[in-house]
Amino acid sequence: MSHRTSCFHLNDLFPREIDIEVCLKTLKIFQKLEGDVNCVVWDASLVLAKYLETMCQCKPDFLSGIRVLELGSGLGVVGLTAATLGAQVTLTDLPEALPLLRLNISENKQKIVSMGGYAIAESLIWGDKNSEIHKQEFDMIVLADCVYYEDAIDPLLETLQCLNNTVKKKPTIYLTQEIRDSEIQKKLWNVFYEKLNESFYIEKIPEEEQHINYRSSDILLLKIIKK
Ligand SMILES: C[S@@+](CC[C@H](N)C(=O)[O-])C[C@H]1O[C@@H](n2cnc3c(N)ncnc32)[C@H](O)[C@@H]1O
Repeated sequence: MSHRTSCFHLNDLFPREIDIEVCLKTLKIFQKLEGDVNCVVWDASLVLAKYLETMCQCKPDFLSGIRVLELGSGLGVVGLTAATLGAQVTLTDLPEALPLLRLNISENKQKIVSMGGYAIAESLIWGDKNSEIHKQEFDMIVLADCVYYEDAIDPLLETLQCLNNTVKKKPTIYLTQEIRDSEIQKKLWNVFYEKLNESFYIEKIPEEEQHINYRSSDILLLKIIKK
């Protein structure tokens, strides 16, 4: 798969504000007026970000000092929320997604630092076994809406495996996925789920444990740990 380089003009961007109520901070996330899937905020990322916030409401140190890796960050809503809640976060995506992702990190940097968190963006192409990221240890992996095209399923699973192979303690993985109406998308999700189920324990987090305003019957939230 080849990857395009991407740049943006500030005129092509528009901000979206996302409140993190538990710490009274508001993230400013720049989206592109037109672009690829990594240029907009997807609902599954809001469900996961708000779930992390809900967890911090019950357990204030849930993310404090925790090393978090985000896969397929897009504009960075989940990773930036985790960092604003005190985590040390590495946000990753395809190389062409990094300029806008880095703009969003720098836009929110002061809020993150004021909460004791940290955020950095790196390239991580799923299935790239030589990535330096695999040499690092993480306590938690987060990913939102990353199961949406067939060619990515095996590389994404390989990356999840690799991230577990080299570490002493298995990271907890939180994944959200919007289950879209089309038969192709449903089949794709089933294939991914069956393969994931072979090597990982999967727990579905019920809607009533999620953020009261940011949950949906068509968005799955899973907690996953390597067998
Ligand atoms: C549907 S978007 C979701 C973005 C973000 N997580 C959200 O929910 O707003 C999927 C993301 O996966 C990234 N992605 C797709 N294929 C990838 C690959 N092979 N390696 C790494 N990232 C990839 C895309 O660039 C995009 O940011």
